[in-house]
Amino acid sequence: MVGASAAAALAATPAGAGAGAKPAGTDNPVMAKVSLTVNGQRRDLELDTRTSLLDAAREHLHLTGSKKGCDHGQCGACTMIVDGRRINACLTLAVMHQGSEITTIEGLGQPENLHPMQAAFVKHDGYQCGYCTPGQICSGVAVLAEIKAGIPSHVTADLTAPTQVTEAEIRERMSGNICRCGAYSNIVEAMTEVAGRPA
Ligand code: FES
Ligand code: FES
Repeated sequence: MVGASAAAALAATPAGAGAGAKPAGTDNPVMAKVSLTVNGQRRDLELDTRTSLLDAAREHLHLTGSKKGCDHGQCGACTMIVDGRRINACLTLAVMHQGSEITTIEGLGQPENLHPMQAAFVKHDGYQCGYCTPGQICSGVAVLAEIKAGIPSHVTADLTAPTQVTEAEIRERMSGNICRCGAYSNIVEAMTEVAGRPA
């Protein structure tokens, strides 16, 4: 708590003086134009350069399927597919993706036309509260593409053989997508089925 004498001293301090004062002009955000292709549609935005890709989608494009869990790259709830690779959209600035192709959960499928991964999550009960689910599904789609492309993971034993869709591979590659409801085993089953192996 600030005492009366300290408060009086603070009130007497000239504006802009003292520790923590900002140099003139720094309160004004720096704006930049960015064009993205989001779910197949070109979107032109003018954004504060500090806007994350997640906030650009949620706050400016009103695509709220991608979730903000931690905003620190630790939970995976914000996962999107950018130019074919999954990323944590909270950890990247929108202005870094000029011209990029971005797929969010809304672009994978819709309730009347589900993506096979979405349908498999429903079939295998791959969620409970659903908060992590858009990120899980985007990650799941990209993980199967990574395996198909032969990209190894930490648990790939033989780097010279084609990578297999095993439970160990799925669990390792999905380890950045946290589910506090603990739907992990059902998510593995859903992904295994989409990969064309018996779940
Ligand atoms: Fe991006 Fe958690 S919100 S990783
Ligand atoms: Fe609730 Fe994953 S379904 S956090």
